[in-house]
Formats: sequence, structure tokens, C-alpha cells
Amino acid sequence: MSMHRDPAAPIAPRDKREEAATRLPMDVDTAAHQRFVAAARRYWRGPLFRALHAQASAAPDAGRELVTHRYFAWLERHLQRMKYSGPHGLVAIAERDRETLTRSAPKALPPGLLTLDPALVPPMYYTACDIHQQPGGLLADLGAHVYRAGVSGGVVGAEALHERFAVRVVGSRSVERILDLGCGFGRSTLAFARAAPQAHVDGIDVAASCVTLAARETPPALHDRVAFRQAEATTSGLPSGAYDLVTSTMLLHEMPEAAVRALVAETARLLRPGGRVAHLDFLPPADPVLRLLFEGHARRNNEPYLLDHGRIDIDRTYADAGFTRVDVTPFDEEDGALDVPPRAWRLPWHMIVAQKS
Ligand SMILES: C[S@@+](CC[C@H](N)C(=O)[O-])C[C@H]1O[C@@H](n2cnc3c(N)ncnc32)[C@H](O)[C@@H]1O
Repeated sequence: MSMHRDPAAPIAPRDKREEAATRLPMDVDTAAHQRFVAAARRYWRGPLFRALHAQASAAPDAGRELVTHRYFAWLERHLQRMKYSGPHGLVAIAERDRETLTRSAPKALPPGLLTLDPALVPPMYYTACDIHQQPGGLLADLGAHVYRAGVSGGVVGAEALHERFAVRVVGSRSVERILDLGCGFGRSTLAFARAAPQAHVDGIDVAASCVTLAARETPPALHDRVAFRQAEATTSGLPSGAYDLVTSTMLLHEMPEAAVRALVAETARLLRPGGRVAHLDFLPPADPVLRLLFEGHARRNNEPYLLDHGRIDIDRTYADAGFTRVDVTPFDEEDGALDVPPRAWRLPWHMIVAQKS
């Protein structure tokens, strides 16, 4: 198997953009390390994935044992580790920049833009593992900075993903109040604020580091109609029937089955009659090779609940909670993402949209 870059690879080199997007200052050695990891990841998810997909599709029963599969699996685990951990990993970079990152933290924010809840106890499933192999996870005080740097490239890095989702969900509808669950550092929330220019958008997340970074990075033009709050999504404490649209991006797969069921009930409580819920998340692919890689991804990326979501009977769960018209559709996060055979390894994005009776 050749280790040279496939000149026909459709994934464009993104070094400069990736580096700029981390927004963490790097010395020369650290930048070289991160560039190496990014380049190796492009090889892993492009040419190596395509070779594996072709080989394993031709020998379905032997896919797991293929040497190419073992390389793929090893690289997935260890490139992710190298990105975050060690002297040149993102956690160390953020730590070296701690003073600057925390100095700007108390920046005065307009009243109502950020509400923290220091008494909030995060659920045990959330604290029990370093999800995505990010040491300390998002509860660490610099967690959101590290997370933002980490997602600037790779399988969740499609640039327009959030905008595509928000525009598709909102369409030409008139929406006045939107709630974004598990808002992270605000990418999903701000995408909805832009897609629905008349709407007020609330973003909630259990991690203080996330909502704080989200509020700080909200452009002043959106200050009067966006608000971030530290809250747990299944027990949000927000008023019943207050929202036209409740949404989440990449939240459900981080929750165990029982928590997803509780979340569906909570969204039904929060929506007005006729309001809609729209989730963007992952469901198991039908292609057996992609399914093998998806299941392996759960272990290799520290995603202990990734497969729980696929076990839920979505129609029944939403119907039991008072929803009608549940639509589950594959989502193309960028042009060509749903091509067969796939051009690159990607997570199996799906939109789940339902209307409250
Ligand atoms: C993968 S991130 C996605 C963030 C954001 N929606 C985006 O698309 O960039 C998942 C987020 O969900 C949050 N989260 C996980 N479980 C949660 C819960 N039970 N309640 C609220 N937030 C939660 C995490 O803190 C994290 O910020």
C-alpha cells in the first residue's frame, strides 16, 4: 500500500485554514506537530479510507481483519490522541496561553447574554469519560477553547455544516423563538440566528466554558436576540410551550438511551402546539463497511453512547411524546457528501425533524 498522497484526492489541503481556525498561538515545533497530524488525518480519511472501502467491500466477511482496516483503526485512535495530548497537543497549547485566554474572560457582556449556574451538577454519563479523547473534556475551564481548536478540521469540520442545517430547517418559515440544545461554543446557535433573522435564539449547554465562549464570541449585531445559559438539556428549567423550534446539533449521540428519551419528552414540553423539533446527528449507515467503521469509531474516539441512538425506535419514541410527522433523512454536510462510493470517511449525518401535535 503506497503512503504517497493520491494526487486525485478530492480533499483539498487545508493547512493554513486549519491553523488559523484554531485561534491558539503556536510555536514553530507545535505548529509543525499539528500540521503533521492534520496532513495524516487527510490521508487517513481520504486515500486510506477509499482503499479500505474498496478492499472490504470486495471481501465483506474479512473486512475487520484486513491490514488496511488495522492501519485505519490505529491512525484514527492515535491521530486524535496526538491532536489533543502531549507537549504539542491542543490542551498543552491552550494551557500555555492560559493567561491570555482567561484575561479576556471577564470582558463585560450585555445583561442577559450569558447566564451561568455554578450549582449545576452535570450528569454522570457526561463526566465519566473524556469524550472525543479530549483530556478533561468540556468541563475544564479552557475546555471550549480546546474543543474549538479541535473541530477546526476533520470529520466534523465541514465549513458550512451548521449554516446548511439551519437554512434547511428554517426555510421560509416565520419563526420567533428558537432553542438550541447542547449549543457548544455557539456555532449551531449563531447559524440559526442568521437563518431566522427575526427570531430570538437561546442556546443552552451544560458546560460553563462553552456558553461563556459562545457569549463572548457573539457579534454585537446579534446581542439583542441571542442568549446563552448553562443548563442541562433534559431538565432545562425553561418555560413550557415557549418555543416554535427546538434544535440540536451533535448532542443526541453524546447521551445514553434513557437521556435521549428524556430529551424527547423535554422538547415536547418546551414546544408550542404545532412547533417543530430538528436534530442533526448520526445514525448507523446501511453499508456494512461504513457500519463497521462507525461502530469502531465509537470505541476509538471515546464515544460511549454513539450506538445508543441507533437502537431507539424513533417513530415510536416521538409519537409517544406527542409528535407527529417524524422525518429522518440523510444529511449532506457538503456537496457530494452522500456520493456512492463515498469520497472520504465521514460521520453518517441525519436530520430528524418532527412536529408537536
Ligand atoms: C459535540 S458538541 C456540539 C456543540 C454544538 N451544537 C455544535 O454543533 O458545534 C455537544 C455539546 O453538547 C453538550 N452537552 C452534552 N450533554 C449535554 C446535556 N445533557 N445538556 C446540555 N448540554 C449537553 C456538550 O457540553 C457539548 O458542548
